[in-house]
Amino acid sequence: MRLDRFLANLPNYNRQQARMLLAQQRVRVDGQVVSDPLAQVREFSHVALDDAVLQAGYPARYLMLHKPAGCVSATHDPQHPTVLDLLPAEARHGLHIAGRLDFNTTGLMLLTNDGQWSRRLTQPATKLPKHYLVDTEDEIGQHYVAKFLEGFHFAFEGLVTQPAQLHILGPRQARLAIVEGRYHQVKRMFGFYNNKVVKLHRERMGAIALDPALAPGAFRALTAEEIAAV
Ligand code: URA
Repeated sequence: MRLDRFLANLPNYNRQQARMLLAQQRVRVDGQVVSDPLAQVREFSHVALDDAVLQAGYPARYLMLHKPAGCVSATHDPQHPTVLDLLPAEARHGLHIAGRLDFNTTGLMLLTNDGQWSRRLTQPATKLPKHYLVDTEDEIGQHYVAKFLEGFHFAFEGLVTQPAQLHILGPRQARLAIVEGRYHQVKRMFGFYNNKVVKLHRERMGAIALDPALAPGAFRALTAEEIAAV
């Protein structure tokens, strides 16, 4: 929210008074004096007027988790363990998943309490490439490569998938980069050839790669560079 609106929403100040407080350099955001009415205030910001704390803010959190097979990408599930169950109880609060994976898909999963950041990561307009290692039941033909680039018609959504890069690694293994995240997208793409995906592992989302030091089920905080890369 804009800083002037944040101040004008407080019980004691109207818009004009809020602008006056800013012009008088009495407002600090995260310890810095701010006089720009258009400066942004987030739920994470500490905002003070003179010595009074107007909003304490709370820390933004960003985690990468190595999702194992056999757990649900959800915050609650009545039947199965969820990815949040892999975190200590005190670390779970307020987190949501930025880009779900199917029950048996493994690999990079990002969790955060920052909705703006996760929207940037997952919204289709960003076209962030998601890289998967795919193992299939049947052989992957060379002719797949052109079809993945050209796109698949997904009748349910009424769309053609964005160009996807397929690199064949072996008779039944490939690396795939897709810029969308449609429901069961990878399985449906291979399903066009009736070729069942038997293993699916997400290696990377844009500039953020799964840390090879993380065993399945383990997690760590993102570095400042990884957070800024989104
Ligand atoms: N595509 C799929 O089919 N499943 C996933 O988990 C991710 C992408």
